[in-house]
Amino acid sequence: MKNINIGLLGLGTIGTGVAEVLLSKAGKLTGQIGIPLTLQRILVRDANKQRSIELEPHILTNHAEDVINDPEVNIIIEVIGGEHPALEYIKQAIRNGKHVVTANKEVIAKHGYELLSLARKHDVGLRYEASVGGGIPLISPFQQDLAANDISAIYAILNGTTNYILTQMSQEGLDFASALKRAQELGYAEANPTNDIEGIDAAYKLAILSGLAFHTNVNPGNIYREGISRLQANDFRYAKEFGYAIKLLAIAKRDSEAIELRAHPVFIPENSQLAKVDDVYNAIQVEGNLTGKLIFYGQGAGALPTSSAIMADVLAIARNIYHGRSNASKIELEQKLKIKPMADLKIHYYFRLTVIDRPGVLSKISTVLGNNSIGISSVIQKESNSKSQTAVLVIMTHIAEEKAVQRALQEIKGLKVVKEVSNFIRVEE
Ligand SMILES: NC(=O)c1ccc[n+]([C@@H]2O[C@H](COP(=O)([O-])OP(=O)(O)OC[C@H]3O[C@@H](n4cnc5c(N)ncnc54)[C@H](OP(=O)(O)O)[C@@H]3O)[C@@H](O)[C@H]2O)c1
Repeated sequence: MKNINIGLLGLGTIGTGVAEVLLSKAGKLTGQIGIPLTLQRILVRDANKQRSIELEPHILTNHAEDVINDPEVNIIIEVIGGEHPALEYIKQAIRNGKHVVTANKEVIAKHGYELLSLARKHDVGLRYEASVGGGIPLISPFQQDLAANDISAIYAILNGTTNYILTQMSQEGLDFASALKRAQELGYAEANPTNDIEGIDAAYKLAILSGLAFHTNVNPGNIYREGISRLQANDFRYAKEFGYAIKLLAIAKRDSEAIELRAHPVFIPENSQLAKVDDVYNAIQVEGNLTGKLIFYGQGAGALPTSSAIMADVLAIARNIYHGRSNASKIELEQKLKIKPMADLKIHYYFRLTVIDRPGVLSKISTVLGNNSIGISSVIQKESNSKSQTAVLVIMTHIAEEKAVQRALQEIKGLKVVKEVSNFIRVEE
């Protein structure tokens, strides 16, 4: 074997970063593995588009089979994104005996188990370090360095776009729409930001991490999720008054019977390390029985950080090829773990209510909460509006059960003295 040939699917933000690393660091990479890595073919949608990188003209193609079926290609890097046709291309590449490296969280979250089984059957490698946390090493630490631990919890900021929006709302007092617009102007949010702001992206990444942490196959559709668009600037002000920050957290916890999986906005203590993770940064807190608490922090997106993760996978595969070792990974799944229903969650809550500004209102609300076994830990009345004769009531609760809270909120909505249940947010202590 004279070289290891790479086929690249996609030459967008990440594909261009990877191609630049492969071309500009060719000598260094050869030194590391003992054999040159050659960029053989690149799949794009539009082969005539102007590119920011100089390439041999024959290298680009808009026919997937030119790359996937090329008998000389050893490793396929998939960075076109989305579920289809990326899934079909990865499957075809594996069936053709090619090793695959992907940054595609959607494909891995939804089809990872099936693809890993297929890769094992064909004795090829399938690696996906870049699918979670961009440049932050996570998949490999979960698979190797933390393998002796029983992991009990993951609390993670996995989406840079929403973390940027929440930082703007908290620090600049912007409303959601203005913060989103700013994120779009800076290229942090896509024109269609649904996957980010609705917590879908965070749920895909949590499915991948929790699957590795708990040795189980997590379907992202089973992860409870809520987005950030119903947060308002005043929620951030009130959070601060109570000593909290608001973050979109992806949370996975395990007890002896079941796992809890959710991605939604939460209040977290403002002096916690996750509360200090601002802008587009990601942070992943893991609790292992041997390590105790660990935090991984860094850039969760961007061409260069993500290329670093992709190249780590490519180099690991290339070294194995060069030394004649198998790249097929073992799949260790425990028995199927039960997912705890959201209704059984027990946690503190924050409520923001708009009420008629007159005596006796609080006692009516407290009665409903008391009837549902929900204790109030503090309550403040804010922002009376003399014109509409309303006031904002902010309530923090003791630990309560989610189903009782949902029931109580319905009852509170029905009270004549309540204009609106303006928001409710879970509180992680
Ligand atoms: N962007 C990040 O910071 C980041 C971070 C971590 C992981 N990722 C993941 O990396 C992957 C790529 O993201 P990206 O930001 O680089 O995307 P992107 O900029 O939109 O690039 C996509 C590339 O794939 C090509 N492509 C798309 N659909 C195709 C199809 N059906 N057939 C052939 N070519 C097709 C496009 O071709 P044309 O150039 O001809 O349009 C383009 O070159 C995604 O899975 C993403 O989730 C991205």
